[in-house]
Amino acid sequence: MNPEGINIILHIVGARPQFIKLAPVVQAFQDLSIPYKVLHTGQHYDYTMSDLHFDSLGLKAPDYHLGITSDSHARQTALMLQGIEDVLIKETPKMVLVYGDTNSTLAGALAAVKLGIKVGHVEAGVRSYDRKMPEEINRIVADHVSNHHFCPTRNAVNILKTEGIEGILTGDVMYDALLRVRQEDLKHPYTGDYVLVTIHRAENTDNQEKFLAIWEALKRISRRIPVIFPVHPRTRNKFAHVLADTGSHVDVIDPVSYFTMLAMIRDTRCMITDSGGVQKEAFLLGAPCVTIRDTTEWPETVHSGANRLVATDPDTIVNAVLTMMDMKVINTNNPFGDGHASRKIAEFIKDHCP
Ligand code: UD1
Repeated sequence: MNPEGINIILHIVGARPQFIKLAPVVQAFQDLSIPYKVLHTGQHYDYTMSDLHFDSLGLKAPDYHLGITSDSHARQTALMLQGIEDVLIKETPKMVLVYGDTNSTLAGALAAVKLGIKVGHVEAGVRSYDRKMPEEINRIVADHVSNHHFCPTRNAVNILKTEGIEGILTGDVMYDALLRVRQEDLKHPYTGDYVLVTIHRAENTDNQEKFLAIWEALKRISRRIPVIFPVHPRTRNKFAHVLADTGSHVDVIDPVSYFTMLAMIRDTRCMITDSGGVQKEAFLLGAPCVTIRDTTEWPETVHSGANRLVATDPDTIVNAVLTMMDMKVINTNNPFGDGHASRKIAEFIKDHCP
């Protein structure tokens, strides 16, 4: 029971994709009158990475904002653990819900389990099987300390089973989020054909050589078709000098709102990305996708033929994009559920955490 005498569920978020996942889940909580509060670790803090999404998704300001911004993994996570623990002791929530695979997910799950507070993991059971990715470590730890595992796909349930964990198949809350938007409301300022790009993963941006190879590919593609690149601050901070290249036709812009991004994904001739969420959104919106990574946690999108994994080699990237650009994506089989994942999560919590 918290100081107001209420048994709440605490949602812990911190990074852009988590605000998007949070929106349909808190809506379902409101629909079922489940009391909750939201804690924002501060991991993402630029206007375009945080407030823009709270505002455009109609999310109320978080009840707690820890203001923990960029740092090394250990320091960022340690500060989050401390800050979250203070809030947990004050609020004594009956459950903590963590989302996805960021350092905020890891810290939220660990802080709660050490206090004996139940943890629910939204987007449980997802694996790339690449332990060099910080996200993979975060997912594994979060899953192994959580009490309830809300799985986006059948594949995720099967993966958890191999690790001795029983998952609950709810479907993907990102699909719910996407369905909450009316197609006719999805607008963006671009006309004509273009290729859309997002690149921010540590594996592509911590390594100068890799990023330069990707940039070379984008420059070549931009000689044939406009290339629009909303740049994550990680990428901009590291490669401002490269992105300022006056010899390129690549349209480098600031991150856009969730709705603008969905509209731009829907209308792109081809998506180029290294984001997990964008691979799914491209699949769901019928856009062919080229993913610059060795592995993916969303193999269903690759098996469908709509997504292709490529190495960071300019020729390979250009060839894949030129081939995929002409592809029509017809998804007869949607592995991401029926658009009611959030409702199923809320109902489960209502039934099992009275
Ligand atoms: C994080 C997640 C990643 C997710 C991504 C979504 C982890 C380990 N990674 O990566 O899984 O796909 O969010 O965007 O949690 N920065 C800013 N302003 C911001 C946010 C970040 O300038 O608002 C810069 C900082 O220079 C920082 C760098 O981005 O050093 C990395 O930020 P961080 O939040 O640690 O990880 P992301 O790369 O955003």
